[in-house]
Amino acid sequence: MKNTFLSFIVVALVIFSGCHQPEKKENPQTLKQALAQQFYMGTALNSAQIKGVDTSSVKVIQQQFNSIVAENCMKSEVIHPEQDRYDFSLADQFVDFGVANQMFVIGHTLIWHSQVPDWFFKDDEGNEVSKEVLIARMRDHIYTIVGRYKGKVNGWDVVNEAFNDDGTWRESKFYNTIGEEYMALAFQFAHEADPEAELYYNDYSMVKPAKIKAVTALVKSLKEKGLRIDAVGMQAHYSMNFPDVKTFEESLLQLAQSGVNVMITELDISVLPSPYEMQGADIANRFEYTEAMDPYKNGLSDSMSVAFTNRYLDFFNVLLKHNDKVSRVTVWGVNDAQSWRNYWPIKGRTDYPLLFDRGNGKKAVVDEIIKAANDKKDIR
Ligand code: G3I
Repeated sequence: MKNTFLSFIVVALVIFSGCHQPEKKENPQTLKQALAQQFYMGTALNSAQIKGVDTSSVKVIQQQFNSIVAENCMKSEVIHPEQDRYDFSLADQFVDFGVANQMFVIGHTLIWHSQVPDWFFKDDEGNEVSKEVLIARMRDHIYTIVGRYKGKVNGWDVVNEAFNDDGTWRESKFYNTIGEEYMALAFQFAHEADPEAELYYNDYSMVKPAKIKAVTALVKSLKEKGLRIDAVGMQAHYSMNFPDVKTFEESLLQLAQSGVNVMITELDISVLPSPYEMQGADIANRFEYTEAMDPYKNGLSDSMSVAFTNRYLDFFNVLLKHNDKVSRVTVWGVNDAQSWRNYWPIKGRTDYPLLFDRGNGKKAVVDEIIKAANDKKDIR
């Protein structure tokens, strides 16, 4: 009788404690936590963040992101301003920050027609260099940079923007001097310099059929040559009406069919009107400022804020749906004040393309993305 009574008390206590201390199952509260099982969540770092001067943004980066990419400091004109002089000062700090914070570090970008100093293509007399000389310079450039960060930079945008929107090769100096072969050579050199590093091809307008065709053909040809390519990057400098989400989803799937991962590498969504029908991200395209093209300089309207949240969410829902094909999503900057969209394609406008506002406050869309990611996890 005594034993029965004691058992009753024990069972009652267990039930009672169970009722009052339910197993706490808290949903993750930051982007990197919520998306951890889906893909890396990254951001681009500018010089103030890399130097640690912009402490407010650094805090956001550490809390919310688990991958970083160099917005400008690894571009040829910055890191290799003269033939015999490299400047690693910012790039070293960028990589050290990523390693110290255990982030997936992306190098951007080894070979790009833009932001490349003139010396790259000229000899001492100012004449164009030969194919052989340019190949040797490319090799030195790639070996030196990739070699320096071997084991620290996890992935490289090896070649950036090599195709026109109609799928033809961009007539860059690399293409005109070396021919199509420059592409394969760049991937070969990068792999030789760090066999462990992931290698990517990165471009804008990756929702245009002709460009998708060119890029998928490129992946096939690199693979046939036995070269390494891990992913293609859709830059994703979008606006409120371009591209439509269905086209985005279909493009992502077509790119993935070539047998590599897809990365969203430079995501931002401009809320501003776009001059003419311009859609890509060619920084050579610029237009005059007019008041009419700058409608939110005193703040974003409520209706546009809601539309912006929904627009980002539409893209994230596609990315979550196809998380088996998407290995990283990187936004092109931390907060609105720092975005290049404020000065391109029209200088001096006030845009709102990123996930954090000008005071580094979290926009409503951040919690919506976290919620969407948490809901997806519950379904699994
Ligand atoms: O650092 C100088 C500063 O010293 C000077 O006072 C100032 C005057 O304009 O210019 C500063 O450099 C600017 C740099 O951004 C840093 O802010 C350059 O003029 C400007 O051309 C440069 O723009 C960058 C652009 O690429 C060209 O490199 C943008 O920040 C960067 O967001 C943008 O990123 C590209 C990707 O690399 C490739 N895909 C498209 C994307 C957008 O164009």
